[in-house]
Amino acid sequence: MAEPAAPIPSSTIPRTEPPASIDEIIAVQEEIFCERQHESRRLAQRAGHALAGGVTSSWQITRPQPVWLSHGKGSKIYDVDGNEYVDLHGGYGAALAGHGHPAIVEAVRGQVALGTHFAQPTPAAILVAEELTRRFGLPLWRFANSGTEATMDAVHLMRAITGRDLIIKIEGGYHGHHDSVQVSVCPEADQVGPANRPAQVPSSTGIPQAITDLTLVAGFNDLDGVARLLDENPGRVAGMIIEPIMMNAGIILPEPGYLAGLKELLHSGGALLTFDEVKTGLTAGPGGATGVTGVVPDIMCLAKAIGGGVSVAAVGGTEEAMGHVATGDYEMVGTFNGNPLAMAACRAMLCEVATPAAYQRIDALRQRAVAGLQREIDRNGLAAQVVAVGAKGCVVFTAEPVRDFRGFLGIDDSYSHAHWLYQHNGGVFLPPWGKIEQWLISVQHDEADIDRLVTNFAAFAAALGSVR
Ligand SMILES: Cc1ncc(COP(=O)(O)O)c(C=O)c1O
Repeated sequence: MAEPAAPIPSSTIPRTEPPASIDEIIAVQEEIFCERQHESRRLAQRAGHALAGGVTSSWQITRPQPVWLSHGKGSKIYDVDGNEYVDLHGGYGAALAGHGHPAIVEAVRGQVALGTHFAQPTPAAILVAEELTRRFGLPLWRFANSGTEATMDAVHLMRAITGRDLIIKIEGGYHGHHDSVQVSVCPEADQVGPANRPAQVPSSTGIPQAITDLTLVAGFNDLDGVARLLDENPGRVAGMIIEPIMMNAGIILPEPGYLAGLKELLHSGGALLTFDEVKTGLTAGPGGATGVTGVVPDIMCLAKAIGGGVSVAAVGGTEEAMGHVATGDYEMVGTFNGNPLAMAACRAMLCEVATPAAYQRIDALRQRAVAGLQREIDRNGLAAQVVAVGAKGCVVFTAEPVRDFRGFLGIDDSYSHAHWLYQHNGGVFLPPWGKIEQWLISVQHDEADIDRLVTNFAAFAAALGSVR
């Protein structure tokens, strides 16, 4: 393995003087990017013969080329070319513990020696469930292996409890890749239909029309839209699945009263409310978006960060909702559910890593990031804003406040891509996929990591500000 190289100080990144356009900025930065990634390119080419598309998940196909990693340590990750990065990608929001956290290493190592799979429960599962109850205010839990499995079970459960087929989801919301929620995830402007009556757009090939028809779509922060769907479909809506803080479109915050209003509306229509806290779970705060907003749903889905980097998910609910699981009315099953390795990592994550002191530290780092980035936005007169909550945050390249997917749709993605390239070339790995994703600050980041983010952004902002 190559020795990790020191990150390139952003001040030494060559720039055009002054750039003619955002496209020119991107072209220059992509060239620098590729110049630093020869081994990644070699692996990508070789992988193309053995891995479909040359990657292990389609979202790893990034422009200008996928980045292959060798390892991670603390707040840093290292690519196969030996470049070091401050990891603010966080594995799409899962790496809240950072990398090689001693508590996670010890928990996993200990469990590996004792057996990694039985398909019978182990005591750690009780500790994990009790801790989830303490944090999220829901009494009963089960486990799964990915966010997709958790939201699939939640949708099944809402249907099983109510005996109804229709569900409501948010336009622009992502809840994993099972059929019922693969509707209107990121529809194009010419597909979305009128704002007060969003179209139901299948988000992938392979999703049957019959399933798409069962998933109704409403705008985020639009209570009237949900009221209309309930009115038009009396006694037919099983429930609604929503990220309480929307994180598939930068970050969109719920307006005051929106989530409480949803719960009331849905209950008055005999329907249930599921919060998808797969992303927000431990990252929006110790009790997730539920803790931030004070609204407790009927059913909740967790995944990503709760496993400390090991694949695990959880579905929690009220006595009433999870009673249908307890009685076997809905069979929530899976060979690897409650897997002892995952439970050991999850227990360590909840009890030893995501501590009150860790959240205090993350809060201070977030404030430092927001202040630094906003200062550069203001200094360069950019039409942009910083939106951040807990360990998550992003720069949104529009001056207008964004309250739903329609507002997000109009944002020019090239600014986010150029920003990503600047950060990458300056030694900070933000999540790819432009305007959609957010950074994740882990418990192992420090002030110097945040300052590197801000320094790179300052260079980008200056380049943007000087576009001829
Ligand atoms: C809000 C949300 N729900 C569900 C999922 C699906 O999780 P997984 O990729 O673990 O299946 C994701 C993944 O990004 C997500 O962001």
